[in-house]
Amino acid sequence: MVAPPQRLLIDTDPGQDDAFALLLALASPEELDVLGITCVAGNVPVEKTSRNALQICELAGKREIPVFAGCDRPLAQELATAEEVHGSSGLDGATLPGPTLCLQEGHAVDFLIATLRAEPAGSITLVTLGPLTNVATALQRAPDIGPRLQRVVMMGGAFFEAGNSSPVAEFNIWVDPEAARIVCESGIPLVMAPLDVTHRALTPPFWKEALATLPAPLGPTLRGWVEFYERYDRAKYGWDGGPMHDPCTIAYLLQPQLFSGRSVPVRVETEGEFTRGMTVADWWRMSGERDNALFLTEVDREGFFRLLYERLTRLR
Ligand code: BDR
Ligand code: CA
Repeated sequence: MVAPPQRLLIDTDPGQDDAFALLLALASPEELDVLGITCVAGNVPVEKTSRNALQICELAGKREIPVFAGCDRPLAQELATAEEVHGSSGLDGATLPGPTLCLQEGHAVDFLIATLRAEPAGSITLVTLGPLTNVATALQRAPDIGPRLQRVVMMGGAFFEAGNSSPVAEFNIWVDPEAARIVCESGIPLVMAPLDVTHRALTPPFWKEALATLPAPLGPTLRGWVEFYERYDRAKYGWDGGPMHDPCTIAYLLQPQLFSGRSVPVRVETEGEFTRGMTVADWWRMSGERDNALFLTEVDREGFFRLLYERLTRLR
C-alpha cells in the first residue's frame, strides 16, 4: 500500500537555499503535501521574504499554495539580515517577473495556530528554514498547538562545526535566540539540520551546468541563484561550492536514510556573553536531560544532490 503524503507547514525566509528547499518540497507531491508557507524576517525583511516565496511558488507552477507574511522582527532584539549572502532582494542572481500571486489575508502566526487546531493532532510536520520567531510566537499565544504537531524539522544550529554568524552561533538561531529556545524547550520532537551536516551538502562542481540544462525559466534562474549564492562561502571558507542548508530538511523527509545523527538533549544559549545563540548539543549525555532532538551530522552528498536534481526535473 502506498503511504499518504506527509502533511507539511513550511516556515521560511527565502533566500536562495530556502528556494531550493521549497522547490524540492513542491516537486514531491506524492510524498509531501504542503498545506501552506509562512514567511518570517531573516535573510531579508519580511516584505521581501514573502514576496520571494510567492515568486518561488510561481516558478514552480504551484499557484494554489497559500503564502502568509509573518513576524517582522525577533522577539527580543533588532532584526539582523544577511544581504551579504543572499543579495538585497534575498534572491539575487536571477530576475524573476511578478509575482502575480498575492499573499493571503491575515498573519502567518494566526494561520499556523488555526491550521494546527483544525487538523487532526499529530498529522502535521512543521519545517523551519529561518529564524523561529513565527513558530515561537504561535507557541506563546496558543500553547495547545505544541502537542498537536507531529514534529519540527529545522534548519538551524551548530555544535561541532563553528558558527556562521558568531564564533558559535548559526544564523537562524542567532537572529532570534529567544524564539529558538522556546521551540527547543517546547517538548515537540525535533529533527535539527545544523551546520554540522549542511556544511557537508556543498554544491558539486557539475551542479550549475546540470541546472542550466533544465528548461527556462527554471534552469537559468536556478543557475543564476547558485552562481550568486556560492560566491560568499567560496570567499569565506575557500570551498568549491556553496552549502545547500535548507534543502537538507526536505531531503531528510523524503529520504531519511541519506542522513545520520544522534538523538540528544539540545539547549539554546540565550545568556552567554560570547555564546548567545549557540545550540549546545549534549553529545555524551552529560546533563541528564531528556533527548529532545535528532541532531544530524552526516549526509550522503552524492545521494542528496541526485535526489534534488531528479525532483527539480519534475518541475518542467
Ligand atoms: C541559514 O541561514 C540562512 O542564510 C540560510 O537560508 C539558512 O537558512 C544557514 O545558516
Ligand atoms: Ca533560510
